[in-house]
This record gives sequence, C-alpha cells and structure tokens, in this order.
Amino acid sequence: MQLWKGRFQKALSKTTNDFNSSISFDSRMYKEDIEGSIAHSKMLGECGIISKEDAAAIGEGLKGILADIDSGKLKIDPEAEDIHTFIEGELTARLGDTGKRLHTARSRNDQVAVDLRLYLRREVKEVKKLLYGLLDVICSKAEEYAETIMPGYTHLQRAQPITFGHHLLAYGEMFKRDITRLDDCAERMEVMPLGCGALAGTTYPIDRTITASLLGFKGIAENSLDGVSDRDYCIELASALSIIMVHLSRFSEEMILWCSHEFKFIELDDAFSTGSSIMPQKKNPDIAELVRGKSGRVFGDLMGLLTVMKGIPLAYNKDMQEDKEAIFDSVDTVKMCLTAFTPMLDTMKVLPKNMRKAAAGGFINATDCADYLVKKGLPFRDAYKATGEIVALCIEKDLTLETLPLEEYKKICDMFDEGVYEAIGLEKCAYERRSQGGPCPDNVRKNAAALRAVIPTE
Ligand code: ARG
Repeated sequence: MQLWKGRFQKALSKTTNDFNSSISFDSRMYKEDIEGSIAHSKMLGECGIISKEDAAAIGEGLKGILADIDSGKLKIDPEAEDIHTFIEGELTARLGDTGKRLHTARSRNDQVAVDLRLYLRREVKEVKKLLYGLLDVICSKAEEYAETIMPGYTHLQRAQPITFGHHLLAYGEMFKRDITRLDDCAERMEVMPLGCGALAGTTYPIDRTITASLLGFKGIAENSLDGVSDRDYCIELASALSIIMVHLSRFSEEMILWCSHEFKFIELDDAFSTGSSIMPQKKNPDIAELVRGKSGRVFGDLMGLLTVMKGIPLAYNKDMQEDKEAIFDSVDTVKMCLTAFTPMLDTMKVLPKNMRKAAAGGFINATDCADYLVKKGLPFRDAYKATGEIVALCIEKDLTLETLPLEEYKKICDMFDEGVYEAIGLEKCAYERRSQGGPCPDNVRKNAAALRAVIPTE
C-alpha cells in the first residue's frame, strides 16, 4: 500500500518497491511513530481541526496498534513503504474514515523528523547509562591499583613511572567528556519539527507548542524548511559516538598490548578471550580487537551521514532516508562495544609485579635523577646533561641507575651522594608526583572519587 498512489496509474515494480522501501530498518521506530501520531492527533482535536471524538478514537486506535505490535499479534508488513505508511494504513483499516483524518496538517517529512529525534533521544540515554557503568568500573579499578607502579610511556618507550590507577583514570576523563558531548547533542535534539509539514508549514490553525509539550520537547523548529531537513543532530551524535569509539579503541589497543607476552601487565578473563584452531597455546584478545575494529564502521557511518547531507538542496530529499541505517548502526555498535568492553575490563587480572619489573628497566627514573641534582641547586639543563652521561655510562657497563656505584656518579658530578638511590626509587618517583593531575596515589583516589560523583545514583 502506498499513501500517494492517487496520481499514479501503475504500481511500483517489486524491485523498485524494495529499493524505495525503508521498512526493513525504520520499523524499529514504531513506538516513536505512534507516540508522535498520538500527540499530533490530540493537538488536532484541541485546535478544533478534527473533532474531539475523532482525536480520541485515533489515540485509542494507535494505542491498540502499539499493544498489538508489542505483543507480536500484529506483524509489521515487510512490503510496506515505511513504518509511517504501515501504521497509518493499519489505523485506517481499523477505524475507517476516522483513521484517514490522522494525517491532516502533517507530512511524512515532519513525521520522520520527529520520530528520529524521539528515537535517538532515548538511545542517547541508553549510551549514557552504559558509559556510567564503564566509569564505575574504571573508578573501582583505579582505586584498587592506586599504588601500583607501572611505566608510563611516550612514543611507546618507557618514559616515567606512574601508577596504574592514574593510567586508568585517563580513560575515565575521556569517557566523562563523552558524556558531556552526548548531553550537548541531546540538548539540540530538543527541538520539535512536527507542524513543519512537507516543507512549508500548513494553513490549518495548528498549535505546535501543544505537540511539543505532549512529546516533552523544549522547543519547536523555528523554520519549516530547516525543521524537515535538519539532520545535524544525527551528525553530531555520530561524531560523539565516533569519539567514544576512538577512546574505546585506544583502550582496547592498550589492553591488547598489555596482555601480550612482551608486556604481560594483565591477563584477560577466559570469558573474554578465544583460542586458536591450530595453535594450542594461544589466548587471543578477540573482544578487544573487535572493539578496536568496530571503530571503523562507526567512523564510516559518520562519513556516510556527512556525505549524504552535504549536497542536498532544501528541503526534504529522499537521500535523507539514508540517514537511518548509518545512525542506527553507530548507536547499535557503540552500545554493543560498551556492553562487551566493561565486563572485560572488570574481570581482567592485573599483574602488578610485571608492571613494576617493566618500570624498573629503561632508565625510567632518569628525570628524577636529574631533578635530584636540581633540588641540590644545579640548573635543570646541567642536571639533564649530567644524567644523560650517567645513563650512557650505565648502558656501557650494563648497569642500571640503581646499581651504578656512587663513585661512578661522582665522577660525572660531585654533587651526588648516597641520597641519590632514594631519590630514584620507583615508588618515590611515582608517589612524589603530587602535582595537580599527577599520578600519586592520593591524586588517584581523589580523582576517582570526583569521577564517581558524575555517575547518577538512582
Ligand atoms: N521513509 C522516509 C524517510 O525515511 C520517510 C519520509 C518520506 N517522505 C517523502 N516525501 N517521500 O525519509
């Protein structure tokens, strides 16, 4: 059934119908479509555009359809052009002429725009919930490993000692920002497009503020052309979701490195690893790899949306039907990735001894050795040079800063004394980094508590 077949002599061929139809992917918005239609019909009734009786009957009819789809009694017709057509058709089948009044002062263009906003508004809440769950696990792990020494890296070279808790909380900050980005995006979704009609509003005396308040929107689209053709909120959401995937992907990459034999900082739980069909010894971090890999499709969705939108003239064009699969896929993917990632992180086994061992190699305390001389009065640049020479000497003698004898230190700079060994102790190096935002255990505990405060308690 097409809503528009009056002016046509021929029906669409089966292949064209399949090509044109969006029911296979927009049927997931049936709740929102019905919600929007109920509000629209109420408004029509209140404004005297249809009778109160018709409005009430339409409302009841739509609720019946909703209940029947929910219960499985009513199957969505896969041949329908889209979910809007299907539901209106079903309503008319149930109510006759009364059902046919629903679409007064409305177009599918403003209808699909409101449906999508309603749908995504809900999904944003779901993604946020999952992010809060992840933050919670990050905070617990950070608190648990607030004192665990590990090497901090730049260029993937051991750089300075930090705490594992501090490293985890770096991701906490990223996900906290992600939540605020979702909030910003949700705020701009709070604009109600119904009443924009096909593109140019309507001559009926509608009151859009009624529909907006029934649907819980904060405002209405102020320009009818923009109202039906704005998909910025999809692009913004896809960008926010892409950034979440960047974070998840970096975190996954680190977990993959950490559970390799080269690092061995963590071990993933069996439930989040897989074996190899040929190599019996293998325990592969497939879940982390998949999360890393799935970032690609979310970025692709964003690119798709940008490309679909960039060249279309105002107002609605059918190109815009392509928005849905992209935005649905990115929402689904992010939800799936968060659902897999959080328990993987929660159940990982941390191997502090190996982290410490790695931190003890690679002259990770060289900066602290230089700082020790600075604290004794040497300018930093001179202290840096002297320490560089000491590192070179250690490499030559196959020693570490801890095992190099004091006489050797003194040969390079006579300001060294016994105190140097304490100053370059790993715990000291990490725990004394008390500057705001630094890795010392007190900061980790404080920051974890602050991050936790972001998580709603309900
Ligand atoms: N299925 C369409 C979409 O997703 C609904 C809007 C159809 N409007 C139209 N003028 N053909 O965009």
